[in-house]
Amino acid sequence: MKYPKSLDLISTDLPDYKDDPEAYELEEHSRPDEMLMLMTARDTALKILESCKKASVLDLCCGTGLSLEGIVEHPNISIVVGVDISIPYLEFAKRRFSSCCRQPILICGDAVSTPLPQSHWDVIVLASAYHHIENNRKVQFLSRVHDLLGSSGYAVMAENILPEYETNNEAAYASSVRQFYSQVLNTAKQKNPELPAYVENLIYRVAQYGCDGEYEYKVSLPLLYCDLIASGLRIVSQRRVWPDENDSLGNGGNYVFIICRSTEELP
Ligand SMILES: C[S@@+](CC[C@H](N)C(=O)[O-])C[C@H]1O[C@@H](n2cnc3c(N)ncnc32)[C@H](O)[C@@H]1O
Repeated sequence: MKYPKSLDLISTDLPDYKDDPEAYELEEHSRPDEMLMLMTARDTALKILESCKKASVLDLCCGTGLSLEGIVEHPNISIVVGVDISIPYLEFAKRRFSSCCRQPILICGDAVSTPLPQSHWDVIVLASAYHHIENNRKVQFLSRVHDLLGSSGYAVMAENILPEYETNNEAAYASSVRQFYSQVLNTAKQKNPELPAYVENLIYRVAQYGCDGEYEYKVSLPLLYCDLIASGLRIVSQRRVWPDENDSLGNGGNYVFIICRSTEELP
């Protein structure tokens, strides 16, 4: 298996995707690992919607609307709301859905606290949302998801999970982030050996944010489990969609979870 030489020499002069919707979309569409996770999350949400009537759908940290694509026009939906903190991303999302029969209501605000038009939701999409919430607010965020789910709702969570690292050890954390993004780049270059340097640097930028403890706050599987339990949530199903079993991230990788309140019966 051939990896990029190292992610140690990350330059401070990397292009940025934060609040730049075109750069974000380019980065995402150049990453097979990410697109596979998003498509699996979409298919999972669509399957849940099949047994719903007049469903309410909420996407927390909806960004450019990528995680709502293919969902908004489902006939069993009555309302779709997307929340994000980035105005440029929301403007992109608005353009994305402008020709759809059903327009999502897009709200600019903090996913942890912003007021919403209703108190309970049938389906909550959390695609790369949890890892954008600062570690000291993650339980608050998931507790809000718990409250918003009500007694019969499901959250579909798509998450990048880091290989396990020693807790509170910054060097071990940074090493885990680098390992994860080496594999991301490896996968992207396998699909496109001519991956442009600009796109490669956008991917380095994601890793750099993680190492800097800014904007990207990814965690390992045991830490996610702890936060879910602390928030009164339970995993109904869990699927790792990337990388392949024989690749080397331990239990790290891209996952799609179905989550409900821990007090609810299993379906
Ligand atoms: C990786 S993007 C995911 C976007 C979309 N869900 C997707 O899968 O393409 C993370 C998003 O979280 C948003 N975000 C970060 N912190 C936030 C917060 N506190 N409240 C709402 N949105 C936030 C960012 O603006 C960004 O759009």
